[in-house]
Amino acid sequence: MPDNKNLIYVNEDKLEFHLTNQEVSYIFRVFEKSKQPEHLYFGKSIQNRPSFDFLIEREPRSSINLNEKDYTSSLEHTKQEYPGFGTTDFRYPAFELEYPEGDRISNFAYDSYVIHEGKPKLEGLPATYTDSAGEAQTLEVILRDAHSNLLISLFYSIFETRSLITRSVKFHNEGKEIVKLNHAMSMSIDFPDDDFDMIHLNGAWARENHVERQPLFKGVQSISSARGASSHMHNPFFALVRPETTERQGDVYGFSLVYSGNHLGQVEVDTYNVTRATMGINPYQFQWKLKPDEAFQTPEVVMVYSATGINGMSQTYHDLYRNRLAREPWKNQTRPILINNWEATYFDFTEDKIMEIAEKAKEAGVELFVLDDGWFGERNDDSSSLGNWTENKVKLPDGIAGLSDKIHKLGLKFGLWFEPEMINKDTPLYQEHPEWVIRMPAKPISYGRNQFVLDFSNPEVVDALFNQMDAILTHGKIDYIKWDMNRYITEPFSTLLPHDRQGELYHRYILGVYSLYERLLDRYPDLLIESCAGGGGRFDPGLLYYAPQAWTSDDTDAVERLKIQYGTSLVYPLSSLGSHVSAVPNHQMGRTTSLDMRSAVAYFGTFGYELDVTKLSEDEMNQIKAQISFFKDNRRLIHEGIFYRLKSPFEGNETAWMVVSQDRKEALIGFYQVLAQPNPSYSRLKLAGLEEDTLYTIDPDGEERYGSDLNTIGLLFSENERQRGHFWSINGKSDFHSWIVKLTAKE
Ligand code: GLA
Repeated sequence: MPDNKNLIYVNEDKLEFHLTNQEVSYIFRVFEKSKQPEHLYFGKSIQNRPSFDFLIEREPRSSINLNEKDYTSSLEHTKQEYPGFGTTDFRYPAFELEYPEGDRISNFAYDSYVIHEGKPKLEGLPATYTDSAGEAQTLEVILRDAHSNLLISLFYSIFETRSLITRSVKFHNEGKEIVKLNHAMSMSIDFPDDDFDMIHLNGAWARENHVERQPLFKGVQSISSARGASSHMHNPFFALVRPETTERQGDVYGFSLVYSGNHLGQVEVDTYNVTRATMGINPYQFQWKLKPDEAFQTPEVVMVYSATGINGMSQTYHDLYRNRLAREPWKNQTRPILINNWEATYFDFTEDKIMEIAEKAKEAGVELFVLDDGWFGERNDDSSSLGNWTENKVKLPDGIAGLSDKIHKLGLKFGLWFEPEMINKDTPLYQEHPEWVIRMPAKPISYGRNQFVLDFSNPEVVDALFNQMDAILTHGKIDYIKWDMNRYITEPFSTLLPHDRQGELYHRYILGVYSLYERLLDRYPDLLIESCAGGGGRFDPGLLYYAPQAWTSDDTDAVERLKIQYGTSLVYPLSSLGSHVSAVPNHQMGRTTSLDMRSAVAYFGTFGYELDVTKLSEDEMNQIKAQISFFKDNRRLIHEGIFYRLKSPFEGNETAWMVVSQDRKEALIGFYQVLAQPNPSYSRLKLAGLEEDTLYTIDPDGEERYGSDLNTIGLLFSENERQRGHFWSINGKSDFHSWIVKLTAKE
């Protein structure tokens, strides 16, 4: 039995595969009756052994079997790895092929396997990566169709130390005929029981990523998008957890799709309580024509196993996405503190106004100025000029290059807003190329924010946008781009694609988006890109590969942000969560919260400001200066530390979370109370992740406590007999209150 650095064991005789490290085991075999891969186990790491055939479960059933008089040869009663359709399994398949004769019956059987050192790249698609070959191994299992020359490669990667398996699939047409791929999920797995709750992130504009949790029922349950983007509605993520699982205890299986287009995450519980989980490109509205010698690569799914609750799963995702999804130079890097003029001026600004804001922001300690929407064409409201990326000389007499120069002279970096995928009717590009819009010319077109979506499935469109953006980027020094996308795709039709390839539009569109990102980053490798889609409409791992931070939500209200940031943190690291302090009354909610509360929430993200600093009082300016200097002192801890959620905003009036440094010598706690409580009960906040026998100094009160005591007893927030004074007191406080506590290990 070959032993490949102990990450992948293969029993050649029995055709069993065991991917394992200290954290996780993933085991499957080839079912001798169908020669299809049969799933045996996924979960906590278990000892390797010569064979795992004791995990094979069979129950003779007279239903429909592959072989005559063989009552245990039904695929319906086999736990599978990548099920097809058409023979004996009636559950939803992981793929569906349509053959030239019109049938959709597939019989793929095991052919061979290859072990790759490291992790092969996914052509044209974002994916997690390795820094050195020894860090991971990839098992490629090749299946061959018995009736055609079609091959399927199933890829499984395992890292040396991470509690996860990544999966993706590639279809190759080695035959002479065209086939149609109707359904091509990235993974499928059959769990032996259904004792799970399903967790997912649900939302809408201004209330993204709210956490939902429901027990599984028998039948099909799913989350999906058919909007052309991963969407505000369902993040491409779900988890299966045991009913007793909490934030810090219990089994969790997380599934996160590295993709930004239409997706599907589906769980089917069958009548024998087997739970089939699948994830990938949404098959609804998808069809891909696979010509001879062509291949189709699916996006990657990151499957995390956690034995330490939901928080354990999040920490695994955070570490992976910070270090092996985000790329140089921004991987595991702190982010600049920015100011964005959107909520300060909207479309109504002049260069003088911008410079006033920038100067004042610089004085406060801000590092990056971002000019948002309205700098190009004749864009004075949201009905004009998208697709015409030339400076508006009325607002900016010296153009972008002139403004960028002035901003840089102040000692600030300069960032610029683009919405490259969109077009308004009044732009020269639209006049020249009306056929570059996604629409069916013979049918009415729908309006979204007065704009249309450009056909990014067409490489010429991508070229044209690259050239326009490149012209701006070469002239002025641009350090950062906010890449927005403010409407979903309707009337999906491309004039470029033939009638029998229209089902490829959504996927080709997102490949076009990725290719533009790639080209810009090739040319401007230091560029920091923040993605945005009306806030969090496309906050997904696919885009994090190119844009290591994303605008979490257009909703900047501190109270709403508690829920949004809490939910988003289930999968995404704090260094990717765009978070700004904005003005009050808040523009989305009309709510007035204190400057303290607003900053205390925004600290747990990339951190920045989105208000007119020239309108602040001296007192407020001083507060902002103090906030920025505090953030600078703590951002390494925040952006690189280990995050713990302590109290959920979905369960009550209080929210709390904390970050602990990797060496456990520092920690920062955010504790928030939405409404003031009359005559309150005692309040203790149990902490997490602290070194048990380390003595920590608590800032601001100067007291010293051991990690063991803080982890098990917690911070006391009542005004107790020790008269901790104003900091600890919740009496006399108003609504929307926050506490920031810093712990430092005593040397
Ligand atoms: C979207 C973004 C906002 C802002 C506006 C500009 O709504 O989410 O942050 O950039 O567009 O039009």
